[in-house]
Amino acid sequence: MSSTSGSLFDLSGSTALVTGAGRGIGRAMSVALSEAGARVLATDVDAAAAADTQRLLGSGDELRAQPLDVTDPDSIAVAMDYLVAQTGRLDILVNNAGINLGNDTPAEQLDPEIWRRVLDVNLTGPFLCAQQAARHMIAARSGKIINVASAAAVIIPRLNERFLTSYSTSKAGVVMLTRVLALQWAAYGITVNAISPTYTDTDLIQRDELRMRQMVSSSPFERLGQTADLTGALIYLAAPASDFTTGLNLLVDGGFSL
Ligand SMILES: NC(=O)c1ccc[n+]([C@@H]2O[C@H](COP(=O)([O-])OP(=O)(O)OC[C@H]3O[C@@H](n4cnc5c(N)ncnc54)[C@H](O)[C@@H]3O)[C@@H](O)[C@H]2O)c1
Repeated sequence: MSSTSGSLFDLSGSTALVTGAGRGIGRAMSVALSEAGARVLATDVDAAAAADTQRLLGSGDELRAQPLDVTDPDSIAVAMDYLVAQTGRLDILVNNAGINLGNDTPAEQLDPEIWRRVLDVNLTGPFLCAQQAARHMIAARSGKIINVASAAAVIIPRLNERFLTSYSTSKAGVVMLTRVLALQWAAYGITVNAISPTYTDTDLIQRDELRMRQMVSSSPFERLGQTADLTGALIYLAAPASDFTTGLNLLVDGGFSL
């Protein structure tokens, strides 16, 4: 790699806050950003899990993991203010936290409380975090916001999980939120993009034998996604290489949505 292409993907000197960093995709993304040179703050509603992730990072001694519930504006503000107080900046926000509930229930039987909870965490959460990150990014006239959406935002999975009513709707909302914010904040040098994984090998997916078989056979590559499959897209969207890319939903789904 030439030194020019190297600096396009270099995150040295930047800072990142990752939500839902305590396990799964959020943990893997925190480690990847750290390995690319960013100082990363791991946050999660599960404070102990976030602390476990923080210990894996280059910034593990410098920064203390913060409890952050994406539905709670006060906890978002405290964590972001902490990162800015410690480092002087917030360059990258990864809106990763998400939940998947009620996906065995037909829409006509879905408890409205489950619908509200999924929309609250998966859609309102990224909005609240982006809104508060923008306070810092607009002042700095730069920033990278990366929303973790899902292939389920653009295709309705037709396994026996055909009832992803609230989840799919929330993730489609994330894709449009990405576009709306991208358009508004380009003037401040902020890019807003989404990454959409397919079924990925984390605690989120249901692992009974039939589902596993269906998930694998619905992938053109005949395997689940691994968290490492997302690293290239993540670093691209966090780094100077993507400075002229905004509003994109980057499907890293192994062709699942084709
Ligand atoms: N695993 C998949 O198959 C898959 C596929 C497509 C998209 N995604 C998306 O990727 C993201 C990460 O999923 P994952 O598979 O790593 O899930 P996971 O369940 O392994 O981890 C999710 C993390 O989010 C945290 N979290 C939950 N609610 C929160 C809240 N209110 N505030 C802050 N943190 C909260 C959890 O404590 C957990 O640490 C989610 O947005 C998910 O929808 C996952």
